[in-house]
Amino acid sequence: MTTDVLVVHGGSPLRGQIRVRGAKNLVSKAMVAALLGDSPSRLYDVPAIRDVEIVRGLLELHGVRVSDGEEHGELVFDPANVERANVDEINVHAGSSRIPILFCGPLLHKLGHAFIPDLGGCNIGGRPIDFHLQALREMGAVVDKTPSGLDITAPNGLQGTKFELPYPSVGATEQVLLAAVRAHGVTELRNAAVEPEIMDLIAILQKMGAIINVHTDRVIEIEGVDRLRGYTHRPIPDRIEAASWAAAALATGGDVYVQGARQAEMMTFLNLYTKVGGAFDIDDSPTGGIRFWHPGGELKAVLLETDVHPGFMTDWQQPMVVALTQARGLSIVHETVYERRLGYTDALNQMGATIQTYRECLGGTPCRFGRRNFTHSAVIAGPSKLLAHDVVIPDLRAGFSHLIAALAAEGTSRVYGVELIRRGYEDFEAKLAALGASVEKG
Ligand code: EPZ
Repeated sequence: MTTDVLVVHGGSPLRGQIRVRGAKNLVSKAMVAALLGDSPSRLYDVPAIRDVEIVRGLLELHGVRVSDGEEHGELVFDPANVERANVDEINVHAGSSRIPILFCGPLLHKLGHAFIPDLGGCNIGGRPIDFHLQALREMGAVVDKTPSGLDITAPNGLQGTKFELPYPSVGATEQVLLAAVRAHGVTELRNAAVEPEIMDLIAILQKMGAIINVHTDRVIEIEGVDRLRGYTHRPIPDRIEAASWAAAALATGGDVYVQGARQAEMMTFLNLYTKVGGAFDIDDSPTGGIRFWHPGGELKAVLLETDVHPGFMTDWQQPMVVALTQARGLSIVHETVYERRLGYTDALNQMGATIQTYRECLGGTPCRFGRRNFTHSAVIAGPSKLLAHDVVIPDLRAGFSHLIAALAAEGTSRVYGVELIRRGYEDFEAKLAALGASVEKG
């Protein structure tokens, strides 16, 4: 339900400094990995976001003691008493998160059984879990579909296997990693995803005692080991949040220093930012970050195709599209990761943008959605003057783009459903205030 409303008085540039902490899409998986250890794990820089609360709740339900460390954002996980959780309670805690599916491997190793509730997540496409289940079955798991979720067992334990993903799925790659590290024998995963968050998860698993080789051409080889210990880890920064603020700086004609942002994980984004006409300056000292700003003059239309790493992230697409409404000419967007990730552009059109969506693959690279009738390309004609309009947030990243559009638009907009933004953006209202935005609770 759209309970949380933000009233945004837009039309002024965002200016100032904010900080990003550990990447949501690594931190949540690192928390699951703690289940695999036989001693406590310590994770720093954990952002206070809803997705972290959900995973914390699920870990606690399974007997993991989670406590706050001395440092702000430090969490300690003690897996000494991992136990089966009550199915109804799991369903309540799981909420709309996709993370529960990643509990399979660790729970099968610890308890021989895993219950996975119906999964939610953002409304951006079908988001099936067939690759996950196929991989687990190949490793010896037995999956029983029940009315309330999936009941998974491994009567003979999990075994190493050779498996090729039909598409380099982030979640399915993590599934295989978390299951194979303690399986019997060697697992060879082909066509694996190699996002920086996955490399950081591999770093964590190595700290725990896992043996994982990342070969060229998306091949990951995991040698199963008998036991894993806890880890201490400081995660990579949230490159999606960093890019979201960078896009907000551009769309509002502002200047935002994102402390914690790092060049290494954002190279593809920075290339596009330059092409559009945005400016940035990198401070790579340990406490550094990246300053992003609109240098004045006109922004330029670009071709933006999303892809798996090292391509342009699908999660960078929505915030950047708002900035592209301010660029002169026709920009083309081709979304190749999710089949339904352009629906949010209707709201931008209501605010004065000119965005037309298409079923064809625009941009030159045919993708798997082209012949399947999915509206997954867009042409943005700009620049358009954005005007205030009330909007209802459909999902996390689209939600942030609606917020940016409201900040860029002249007048007062009401943004409904901001609780969805809390899933992945820590303290975003305080950060908006720090950047001089005029927003208040509705
Ligand atoms: C992760 O989702 C992220 N979520 C997403 O971020 C991100 O957009 C995505 O990776 C791509 O980078 C988390 O890390 C929690 P996928 P994931 O499996 O792992 C298809 C955000 O806003 N597929 O790489 O669920 C799928 O439908 C979120 O932070 C299958 O067909 O994404 C999609 O088209 C949104 N079968 C494609 O693969 C499967 O079994 C990529 O999905 C699994 C996936």
